[in-house]
Amino acid sequence: MDIVTVHNLKKSFGKGESQVQALNGIDLTIEKGKFTAIIGASGSGKTTLLNLIGGLDTPDEGEVTVDGVKLSGLKEKELAVFRRSKVGFVYQNFNLVPTLTVRENILFPLNLAGTTPDPVFFGEITGLLGLAKRLDAYPHELSGGGQQRAAIARALMAKPSILLADEPTGSLDSKNGQNVLGLLKLSVENYHQTLVMITHNLEIAQMADRVVRMEDGRICG
Ligand SMILES: Nc1ncnc2c1ncn2[C@@H]1O[C@H](COP(=O)(O)OP(=O)(O)O)[C@@H](O)[C@H]1O
Ligand SMILES: [Mg+2]
Repeated sequence: MDIVTVHNLKKSFGKGESQVQALNGIDLTIEKGKFTAIIGASGSGKTTLLNLIGGLDTPDEGEVTVDGVKLSGLKEKELAVFRRSKVGFVYQNFNLVPTLTVRENILFPLNLAGTTPDPVFFGEITGLLGLAKRLDAYPHELSGGGQQRAAIARALMAKPSILLADEPTGSLDSKNGQNVLGLLKLSVENYHQTLVMITHNLEIAQMADRVVRMEDGRICG
């Protein structure tokens, strides 16, 4: 079953001579419960595509449907609700709130949404990600790998329809990177989590169920 459908997606930035066509008509489907890797040179449109799938930006043309929700009809407020309820984001630079503890960071999106966290699931996720003993620490007290594991826990806690990760191992050393990647893959296997990950690393891409290659705003295999 496809959980994401993208049709003829186009997006440009800037105007006139400085205009850049970031996406040139993308057609793509993402299968539910699978790990899809997106690879391609810097500037090929990977982040733009991920941001449009996650409802962080709006296209010039074309259509994105995620878990039955057609994004083109949504107003900004509805897009915010879509992101909160359906999408988990993991970024290269973690994006944790520095003044909140690890526990508070992980529960932050649920608290914002007014949802009561499931304590059993919280225990399971934080245990799986090796955070059980670091829940009262602040982000800066954790290693880069620890911070990224906290960001993954935060994304998983809301049980998102899709987990979108933009070069999540990009600022980690190879050992921490492998560890974080293994945990992301485990979340696909244990929770049938759909994962779409941008990566520069071909070794990482080989661990995916499917590799999507981008070039100049197009998919080329
Ligand atoms: N907010 C923006 N403003 C202007 N140009 C942008 C913006 N975001 C992306 N671009 C341009 O669009 C193209 C695709 O960028 P991006 O999607 O970030 O590629 P990738 O993630 O593959 O490196 C690049 O030429 C980039 O410079
Ligand atoms: Mg990018």
